[in-house]
Amino acid sequence: MDNRYIGVFDSGLGGLTAVRRMHETMPGESIIYFGDTGRVPYGTRGRDTIIKYTRQDIRFLLGYEPKAIVVACNTASAAALDTVRDEFDVPIFGPVGPSCEKARRVTKNGRIGVIGTAATVRSGVFERSLKKADGALDVTTLACPLFVPLVENGRVQRGDVVIETVVREYLQPLRDAGVDTLILGCTHYPLLSGVIADFMGEGVSLVDSGAEAANAVRRAVAPAESGAGETRYFVSDDPAGFTQLASLFLQQDAAGSAELVDITQY
Ligand code: DGL
Repeated sequence: MDNRYIGVFDSGLGGLTAVRRMHETMPGESIIYFGDTGRVPYGTRGRDTIIKYTRQDIRFLLGYEPKAIVVACNTASAAALDTVRDEFDVPIFGPVGPSCEKARRVTKNGRIGVIGTAATVRSGVFERSLKKADGALDVTTLACPLFVPLVENGRVQRGDVVIETVVREYLQPLRDAGVDTLILGCTHYPLLSGVIADFMGEGVSLVDSGAEAANAVRRAVAPAESGAGETRYFVSDDPAGFTQLASLFLQQDAAGSAELVDITQY
């Protein structure tokens, strides 16, 4: 048994899709969540900046002596994880590998789509990982830069004409490519699952990268004793705005309010 915290971070609210899965499948765990709401989005930034932010986020979480860290951000994983992983003496889990494994298990026709931020798509990490595992896979990747700001503004519901238009515009090439599996390669995107599923159609399976990162840490760490763990939330800007939207992401009331951190100090 190991009752230490699990640290989780993202550029903003998206990583809460990983926390949601952790609450469902490992309710005894205590979690420290950091959302870098003052600097979101990461996905439009250059690699060096994302590496710097990732180091700061991890250093902040290390202050709570966690037993593991979940990088609940595909952008940080894609741009920074290979560079920073060995700098820290703590197991670090990201969404990319587990999402690719899930997609390979699920696809029947071998055509896999991946959507993510500009930085994630530019890194080529999903194609490399999928093709390395199976060179015969047909992989189509697409950047969807408007999704994160829309999600951060709560524009996620079916019937919202703005998000439905943007989803149609972005995802048409994936429908044309005949993918039967779509990796939501940004932890913000599972919030759009309903709208995306409606557009892609019933035959397309969606892979939730936040949930897959949570599954990876669950498989790897010594569990906490049974009972309810606590979750604490920290952000780098606007704690009240975060707390309000967090319940939408978590699909439950965010317990307590978020605390403010000056992440530039780390
Ligand atoms: N949620 C993040 C991801 O998984 C990053 C979004 C962003 O900040 O651009 O890629």
